[in-house]
Amino acid sequence: MKKVIYPGTFDPVTNGHIDIVERASTLFDEVIVTVAKNPSKKPLFTVDERLEMLHESMKNKPNVIIDSFDGLVVEHAKEVGAIGIIRGLRAISDFEYEFQMALMNRKLSDELTTIFLMPHEKYTYLNSTIIRNLAQFEAEYSDFVPPIVIQKLKEKSAKK
Ligand code: COA
Repeated sequence: MKKVIYPGTFDPVTNGHIDIVERASTLFDEVIVTVAKNPSKKPLFTVDERLEMLHESMKNKPNVIIDSFDGLVVEHAKEVGAIGIIRGLRAISDFEYEFQMALMNRKLSDELTTIFLMPHEKYTYLNSTIIRNLAQFEAEYSDFVPPIVIQKLKEKSAKK
């Protein structure tokens, strides 16, 4: 059984992430979408909220598992028995950071391969910060996120 992990902050998950998961799930037996608990970022959503949005948006994908991890991505990959790490490449600007991360992860664990997938070009300029900004200013962003994310962003702004 060929398992891969797709790590990220997912603050929140976007249709660009879902596009990557869909591509990976046709190539591998199991895709574990895993939320990083300790990124250097300060997420808007808690880990539980990010997990809930991921569960809801992936609920119709039978070979997709959602979990979270604390620590090194390579250690988590080994714990779950993954053969590789999926990362998305949207534009050239992603390349340097991803290249550095892939090589460091390979240095840490030679048996794990990073696999890069490109999402549909309509998601090239998309990221979670843009979505959070659009939501903050009540602009239109419904083409870029699943309905659960719209709901959760509305709940967040109502609490402010
Ligand atoms: N569609 C839309 N947006 C996408 C995307 C896609 N397909 N792929 C990435 N993005 C966006 C994300 O929304 C995020 O946007 P934001 O910065 O505005 O929030 C940005 O691109 C980067 O996202 P992400 O893929 O979540 O990477 P990250 O840099 O936040 O975290 C980890 C990457 C979790 C894999 C990395 O920090 C990690 O491995 N942490 C564990 C510690 C570790 O192992 N360190 C050693 C690594 S060498």
